[in-house]
Amino acid sequence: ITPSLVGRALGSVRSASAVSGAIQSALGHHKALAEYVEHYAGLCNPDALHVCDGSEGEYTTFMETMVEDGSMFKLNEAKRPNSYLARSDPRDVARSEESTFISCVNEEDAGPTNNWRDPVEMKATMANLYKDCMVGRTMFVVPFSMGPIGGPISHIGVQLTDSMHVAASMRLMTRMGKAPLEALGTDGEFVKCMHSVGYPLADGKADVAWPCDPDNKYITHYPEENLAESYGSGYGGNSLLGKKAFALRLASAMGKREGWLAEHMLILGVTNPEGKKKYVAAAFPSACGKTNFAMLEPTMPGWKVECVGDDIAWMKFGPDGKLYAINPENGFFGVAPGTSMGTNPNAMRSLDRDCIYTNVAMTADGDVWWEGMTEETPEGMTNWLGEPHNPASNTPAAHPNSRFTVPIANCPVLDPNFEALEGVPIDAIMFGGRRPTTIPLVHEAFSWNHGVLMGASVASEKTAAATGDDIGEIRHDPFAMLPFCGYNMGDYFQHWIDMGKTEGAKLPSMYLVNWFRQDPETGKFIWPGFGENSRVLKWIFERTDGVTDNAAKTPIGYVPTPDALDTDGLAGITNDELTELLRVDPDAWQREINQSDEYLTSTFGPKLPAELKNEIESLKKSF
Ligand code: PEP
Ligand code: MN
Ligand code: NA
Repeated sequence: ITPSLVGRALGSVRSASAVSGAIQSALGHHKALAEYVEHYAGLCNPDALHVCDGSEGEYTTFMETMVEDGSMFKLNEAKRPNSYLARSDPRDVARSEESTFISCVNEEDAGPTNNWRDPVEMKATMANLYKDCMVGRTMFVVPFSMGPIGGPISHIGVQLTDSMHVAASMRLMTRMGKAPLEALGTDGEFVKCMHSVGYPLADGKADVAWPCDPDNKYITHYPEENLAESYGSGYGGNSLLGKKAFALRLASAMGKREGWLAEHMLILGVTNPEGKKKYVAAAFPSACGKTNFAMLEPTMPGWKVECVGDDIAWMKFGPDGKLYAINPENGFFGVAPGTSMGTNPNAMRSLDRDCIYTNVAMTADGDVWWEGMTEETPEGMTNWLGEPHNPASNTPAAHPNSRFTVPIANCPVLDPNFEALEGVPIDAIMFGGRRPTTIPLVHEAFSWNHGVLMGASVASEKTAAATGDDIGEIRHDPFAMLPFCGYNMGDYFQHWIDMGKTEGAKLPSMYLVNWFRQDPETGKFIWPGFGENSRVLKWIFERTDGVTDNAAKTPIGYVPTPDALDTDGLAGITNDELTELLRVDPDAWQREINQSDEYLTSTFGPKLPAELKNEIESLKKSF
């Protein structure tokens, strides 16, 4: 670590020991933290070091700096106050699952669904890439808390990054800066999140608007050391390491060791007209409308939905035996295309200020636009590549995985218990996917273990949220965790089974939903979805509230009786369509169960828990 480094950041200290001392005092004399920073700073050799305080002034300075250097556009202040647009390198637009690794000592612990690397080899590879990778740049030290600071389910992380864009985004997505640093004290535990865009500026090399190293991306996780290392990408899912890397991959492994759950789930509160409230957690694979569902506007009078989170849930049993959940994040990083006043009015209201947009289109008057936002395509737009958009062409103006980053405080239906240290009590867990056939609109599991099988059997049509050209294919995505489980997914299923055995536990009920069933003849979606999904929530609410005459017992679980679903004021759906939506086709379901069995058995082999095999057998026998 060179004296000049801290010389620029912390005053004019010039000796190596003074540098060390200055770093330590900037980091609250936390020895392990200072060692971590010194280790990577020594390797990456940045020109300067900046410890983020998370203040508004700091954020403003970051944004002004980026506008000045051309890596960020300031949007029209009158239209979209305090909002910015970044255009990525076209080779860096989504999570790179092929470059994502779990590095643990035994390959079996990564499991069949992750890319495994030996940690010693992986670290050597990463050290090679990190060597001098921050020359000409500043290393930002970003302390952050996942979850409200000091809560029993929360954890602190410290990200190092050479991207100002990433540091600024971490302020929108997490509780970032001075407060989590102080909470660490001199010996608090923290998760290490190391990131570089992989674009050193040696010998006066000029910077680019979106630095990255597209041919050498690595997003690698060491669950045994609570460490993530990322290189080569500036895309959110690869670079905002509090999110997928820490809150899902590393935290899932922490949860396994410590008896809690880190899940790819939204959390919402639903209140009935009498004022009774319940909380629901739901796992849908990427880009299945999780953000829409998390803040939906119920179409039934008197019902209210409030949002705790749209992507991640950390859950622990509380002293009363109920499962309590927090959203560890502090912002939304959502897919823009398809978001509109029709599909997600509360997201639109959240997005009218304070956002960083990536890869959306820009209108002639300096506002944003994306496919699906309005029916008409505005004239004179600049597309996500920065070129004039040709409305006659087939190419979209916004990238299909273009994103918004926004503080959760902007959400008009943010749940009043969002900051509750102990989290919110969960009454129901939902699973879902995009399934054109077979899966009814909703059904309830017979038991916890049956619900775990539902989660393990989640499958969905592929979308644009990850790179790859097989969009439209159905892929199995157990618990919507396929890209995010930080250890052997067979062990993960067992962990869920074991959580259900917790003494004194008051377990949530479990449900599988499918908003995407299509008319076999026309291919059109039968269920209108969006706000109307509140009707399914109402049924779930009533089920968990002890109503029993609203369901038929079928071989696959409890399905709403035709009149149990509140269809008052539901337009555009016939009784025949409703019957089709709730239909359990025995032949299709036997194929479905055989298919899940085949997938689970062939993928997880001896790691598939006996309890799940039993569930599969009893389902097969129930027909
Ligand atoms: C991401 O890619 O960063 C992300 C949030 O992914 P997804 O929307 O697929 O969960
Ligand atoms: Mn997600
Ligand atoms: Na993504």
